Amino acid sequence: MQIAIDGPSASGKSTVAKALAARLGYIYIDSGAMYRTVGLHAARQGIDLDDEQAVINATAGLTLNIEYVDGAQHIFLNDEDVTAAVRTASAGTGASAVARFAHIRERIVGLSRKMAGGQNVIMDGRDIGTVVFPCADVKIYLDASVQSRANRRVAELIGLGQPADFDDISRQITNRDHQDKNRAASPLKVAEDAVVLDTSHMTKEEVLEVIIEIINERK
Ligand code: DC
Repeated sequence: MQIAIDGPSASGKSTVAKALAARLGYIYIDSGAMYRTVGLHAARQGIDLDDEQAVINATAGLTLNIEYVDGAQHIFLNDEDVTAAVRTASAGTGASAVARFAHIRERIVGLSRKMAGGQNVIMDGRDIGTVVFPCADVKIYLDASVQSRANRRVAELIGLGQPADFDDISRQITNRDHQDKNRAASPLKVAEDAVVLDTSHMTKEEVLEVIIEIINERK
C-alpha cells in the first residue's frame, strides 16, 4: 500500500503522516527532509543557492541516509545526524531553493522510491502523488489558509524553543508556496486523482479520521 500526502508547507502533512504511519504500522518517509539536507549542505559551503551548477557540484558527493530510531525518522548527511539541524526556517527556505533543480529532484525521487521498496509506506512532500508514486493507492492533498498554516508554524517553532514572528512566517509561507508551485521541475500541484482536504478548520484527529476512512475504502 502506497499513501501519498502532498501539499504546501505547514499544511500539517508530516504531523498527519506520522500519526497515520504509527496507527497503521506503515513506514513513514519525509521527503522534505532530503531536500532540506541537500540545501543545508550547499548553504554550509557558502554556495549561492540560485546557482544551479554550483549546487549540483557541491552536493554531488553527498550521501543521504534515512534510519529509524525508536520508530522516528532520522536523516544523515554523510555520517552526521542532521534531523534537528534541517528543521529551521532557513533550512526550509534553502530546501525550496535547491528543490527547483531537476537534477537534484531526480536524485531524491530515485532515493525515495528505493527507500520505500515494496513496503507499506506513507510518504509526504510536494510531488509524491504526481511524480514519485503516480500509481499510489491513496493520494491526499492537504491544504490550509496561509493564516492557519502560519499559526501552526509559530506554535511549532515556539515548541522547539526557536524565535517565531507571525508576519515573518506568513511571508515565508507565501514565498515558499509561490516558489514550490511555480518552478518548472515538478511543481506542487494537485494530482488528478487526489482527495483535497482543506484543514484550516479541522483538528488533527478529524483529518486522520477522514484519511483512514479513505484508506479503508481503497484496501
Ligand atoms: O515539506 P518541507 O517543508 O520539509 O519541504 C521543504 C521544501 O522542500 C519545500 O518547500 C519544497 C521542497 N520539497 C519538494 O520540492 N518536494 C518534496 N517532495 C518535498 C519537499
